[in-house]
Amino acid sequence: MRVIIEASPESVARRAAGIVADLVRRKPRCVLGLATGSTPQRTYAELIRLHRDEALDFSQVVTFNLDEYVGLGPDDPHSYRHFMRQHLFDHVNIPPGNTHVPNGLADNVDLACEQYEREIHEAGGIDLQLLGIGTDGHIAFNEPGSSLGSRTRLKTLAPETIRDNAAQFGHADRVPRLAVTVGVGTILESRRCLLLALGAAKAQAIRQTVEGPVTAQVTASALQLHRDVTILLDEAAAGQLERRAYYHEVESSQHLLETRRGPASGGVRR
Ligand code: F6R
Repeated sequence: MRVIIEASPESVARRAAGIVADLVRRKPRCVLGLATGSTPQRTYAELIRLHRDEALDFSQVVTFNLDEYVGLGPDDPHSYRHFMRQHLFDHVNIPPGNTHVPNGLADNVDLACEQYEREIHEAGGIDLQLLGIGTDGHIAFNEPGSSLGSRTRLKTLAPETIRDNAAQFGHADRVPRLAVTVGVGTILESRRCLLLALGAAKAQAIRQTVEGPVTAQVTASALQLHRDVTILLDEAAAGQLERRAYYHEVESSQHLLETRRGPASGGVRR
């Protein structure tokens, strides 16, 4: 795992958008796995800026979102489809048909989940999976206790997640109890994972993810099993990491190597 600690949420966003933009430039037909929530919003704003000011081209990019609330249609202002249009899709030149978000209104959820997995596979698999993390350590909506081999399926939201998302709905009672989410196993098949975390509320989950044991109680910890993971944090989210000084030192060495040989050198990461 490569742990990068940035000074501020703004620098996290610039760095994350830079990683996405590098991939889009290198592989215009890339497949991006996308997250919703407050964490990636600045990153999406930076991608929109890169599209506008530096002609970053999304015309061949394909995207798959991690999750959607059950019962919310694409036009519901609280749906994740709506979130993605508002924060990214409507502001870049991605063809709407290239964007995929799980269907929160499917009659046959199991079938829709199988279909979603098939579509990811047929698109060639996820090249870069962007992730946020819940205060309970979830990635996507893989709540504590989720199988680390899980695939796209229906999931019941944990009380912590309902509490954390209550503000967006005005009240906890209005937060849907169920979501369709890709599985931990689906995420682990991505070629590269980029997990972002901002703020002190995420510090404990980040410590457990990076320095704790691999456990289904903190599904983000399964990322320890992946060979290409970058954890990108602001100082507050890194606040409980015991080996912070070491992560900073690794980054300085990485920086030196990259300035000598260029970013493709591989170097000391992971
Ligand atoms: C959203 C998702 C969730 C969020 C997590 C953090 O698509 O998959 O795992 O990333 O709940 O949410 P925020 O960023 O709002 O703190």
